[in-house]
Amino acid sequence: MQYFDSKYLSKRAIRLRPSPTIFQTKQSTELQKKGVDVINLASGEPLHAPPLSIIPVIKERLDKGMLRYTATPGTDELRRSIIHLYKKRWGLEFSTQEVMACTGAKQAISQAFLATIDPEDEVIIPVPYWPSFSDMVEFADGKAIYCNSTDYFTLDIEHFKKLLTSKTKWLLLNTPGNPAGNVYSLKELKKIGKILLDWPNVLILSDEVYGDMVWDSNKSHVPFIRAVPELKSRTLTINSLSKSYSMPGWRLGFAAGPAELISTMTKIQDQLTANPNLLSQIAASEALAIEPLTLSDKNIYIKNMEFLINGLNETIFFKCSPVSGGIFAFIKCDALIGVNTVFGVIKNDQDVSSWLLQHAYVNSVPGSVFGLNGYIRMSFAHPLNKIEEAVCRIKEAIKQIR
Ligand SMILES: Cc1ncc(COP(=O)(O)O)c(C=O)c1O
Repeated sequence: MQYFDSKYLSKRAIRLRPSPTIFQTKQSTELQKKGVDVINLASGEPLHAPPLSIIPVIKERLDKGMLRYTATPGTDELRRSIIHLYKKRWGLEFSTQEVMACTGAKQAISQAFLATIDPEDEVIIPVPYWPSFSDMVEFADGKAIYCNSTDYFTLDIEHFKKLLTSKTKWLLLNTPGNPAGNVYSLKELKKIGKILLDWPNVLILSDEVYGDMVWDSNKSHVPFIRAVPELKSRTLTINSLSKSYSMPGWRLGFAAGPAELISTMTKIQDQLTANPNLLSQIAASEALAIEPLTLSDKNIYIKNMEFLINGLNETIFFKCSPVSGGIFAFIKCDALIGVNTVFGVIKNDQDVSSWLLQHAYVNSVPGSVFGLNGYIRMSFAHPLNKIEEAVCRIKEAIKQIR
């Protein structure tokens, strides 16, 4: 391999750490390459089938063979589908200038930060959080400021009030949340909105990519601007086909917000990637017209989630309440800290995760990756027999504890 001196790299690139969840997945892939049958509950991909009707539409377009550039924020057809979706589902009104399609929600969020953050601007992120949020803020030269959460993993209002300063540029909300599956209620969103009405320099980024994946029958997804329409001119809503529509590899996300912000994000996208892949745009227009999850899909997620958390709750070391939404269980594991295992004495959640990988062959992500120690994250978006096997292996590994 050729030697490349890191002196050539920019400070910004050097500062950017490799994705911590990708690292965990890599460790388990290495074990798998050695022939170990690892159950990978670390990954974040949905389980249900994507809408099958996208396939003939894509085939027909491929047969025509004409795939050209489109407008950078997406075709008119796709933008109309996005507008229609918000109108139909939540009665929200957007114009074509207020929506754009991107290569995944990730690109939309990064562009929003690049479009607005100056050095030292602050972004308030409730803990636990999806680690890409803080990495994207720092990549844009901003500063991530972490806010405590309640027992239900929603923003701690009193702490939030203390963190707001003249440097605050964004509040980042994620509902349903990754990693903890928290779903904000209308009342909670209104409370947050009321505070922000007094802070006219603060923007709100609401990541709602798991919006169709709510499992708690007493809760439902409420878009932030549905709860606080007065803040529409300062709110950017992020969505994607990766989760609800089970189309992560198509890399199609979208953003809806104030026209000037969208046009600035479009200007940035013009230089980064230009339009998102046209085939993905065509597939997205088709998919958005369809209900993403059937009742049977929902029941499978609920059954798998309940099996995972009930199984782990039967042990004395793990604790998890029913998950309200999304595809992850965020499991308390601090009872294992200080315990002597075959792996050695467990010092933190990273050790819990490594012990489970090395001795139960179950891959998880330590809570510290999401800014909260003493937890591990496991995805229940896996076939039930895999989850049964994972719980069985974990119980066996616990039996080996001295
Ligand atoms: C909260 C959240 N937002 C955004 C994304 C990324 O979505 P996309 O695949 O559309 O880039 C993820 C993926 O894990 C996520 O968990």
